[in-house]
Amino acid sequence: MAATLRTQVGIVGAGPAGLLLSHLLALAGIDSVVVENRSREYCESRQRAGLLEAGTVELLRSVGLGKRLDTEGIEHDGIYLQFSGERHHLDLRELTGGRWVTIYAQTEVVKDLIAQRLAAGGVIEFSASGVSVSGESSDRPVLSYLDSAGVAHEVSCEVIAGCDGFHGICRPLIPEISVYERTYPFGWLGILADAAPSTDELIYARHPEGFALYSMRSNTVSRLYLQVPPDEPVANWPDDRIWAELNKRFALDGWSVSEGNITDKSVTPMRSFVAAPMRHGRLFLAGDAAHIVPPTGAKGLNLALCDVVVLANALRAALRDGSWELADAYSDTCLDRVWRSTHFSWWMTTMLHVNPEADAFDEQLMAAQLRYVTSSRAEARSLAENYTGYRPVRFEL
Ligand code: FAD
Ligand code: PHB
Repeated sequence: MAATLRTQVGIVGAGPAGLLLSHLLALAGIDSVVVENRSREYCESRQRAGLLEAGTVELLRSVGLGKRLDTEGIEHDGIYLQFSGERHHLDLRELTGGRWVTIYAQTEVVKDLIAQRLAAGGVIEFSASGVSVSGESSDRPVLSYLDSAGVAHEVSCEVIAGCDGFHGICRPLIPEISVYERTYPFGWLGILADAAPSTDELIYARHPEGFALYSMRSNTVSRLYLQVPPDEPVANWPDDRIWAELNKRFALDGWSVSEGNITDKSVTPMRSFVAAPMRHGRLFLAGDAAHIVPPTGAKGLNLALCDVVVLANALRAALRDGSWELADAYSDTCLDRVWRSTHFSWWMTTMLHVNPEADAFDEQLMAAQLRYVTSSRAEARSLAENYTGYRPVRFEL
């Protein structure tokens, strides 16, 4: 016999989307239960995003999550674009009239959110198994799972939020869902290294051998990426080969990549994916559960958090005031931003990567586009406006 519980919102997944939703709902006086199939340690150490838009930073500050972000986050006013052996600077702050980006790792956002929820008495069930959702077309859907001790639970909810990432269980529950997808013929090999970055801002480099990105986590830790084939085994990349390839793709006279002990190495395939609608009855999808962008535009985490703000505003109106208008508009409201970011991420990706299936004509087009971005103020401004954030959202406190 399963232990039964009632809550207002059942949340599947303790990634950034699920955790922030739980926090915003708590601020609005709405209770929730978060069910996650991985351990807390795993969620806090999964290496992923690193770049927050200005609007995301302002959002996190406005809901009490700015303390560590403000001391440990690194504000960047610009980025470098490198191609044909030349490095060009784009001053984001000047081009956008004051907007910037902040380097603060997703692992840290997740740690801050978990600490905040647990300190406030929030319920997060880590290491759950057999997670399932039923009754999503009714007004009392049920979230079922086995806890880490193997005890069965059934949570009766008013709404379920599917924040369970790309491989989750919630998206397949939406009947007649439309899927728009593009897979790219390359992936990223990402490393984390104990090495003081030898650049002050991120470098996006296009080189005949492929794309490379120089990012960072702190003044002593570098995060670097190399374009590789999508199914590339990590074993093909011993440390020496990685440093040699990075130095080749970022080569500039009198400058080099600073090297150090590599502490994390993984390969991620690149894809664009959008599922619509993002809602069916009392089930709402948010973040990677509904859409994926290739990371060249640094949009995935920012988009996931924007979805959640729109959802929290809508659920407060629905569950507290009985008004479902915002909830009815939820999918369309989110998909507008999602498609803007999908286009920007696709554009950055095609412009900066070397497509093994492209011909010489395509190559010339991409090179021409990069020259245009670094010589036309209007084009540079468009990149800067998209990169620093499209239509920031506000949580209505
Ligand atoms: P997730 O982080 O995937 O969280 C989903 C959670 O649900 C996970 O904890 C998972 O374990 C859990 N779950 C799954 N299935 C179940 C189940 N059945 N039951 C219970 N729980 C379940 N974005 C940026 O904005 N900026 C960047 O610089 C950036 N760089 C990136 C670099 C790389 C290499 C990669 C791979 C991604 C990057 N992203 C970036 C994207 C960003 O990491 C994701 O968009 C973000 O993690 C989405 O958050 P989410 O909460 O929607 O999903
Ligand atoms: C990162 O720091 O991990 C990062 C930064 C910018 C991107 C992608 C990833 O575009």
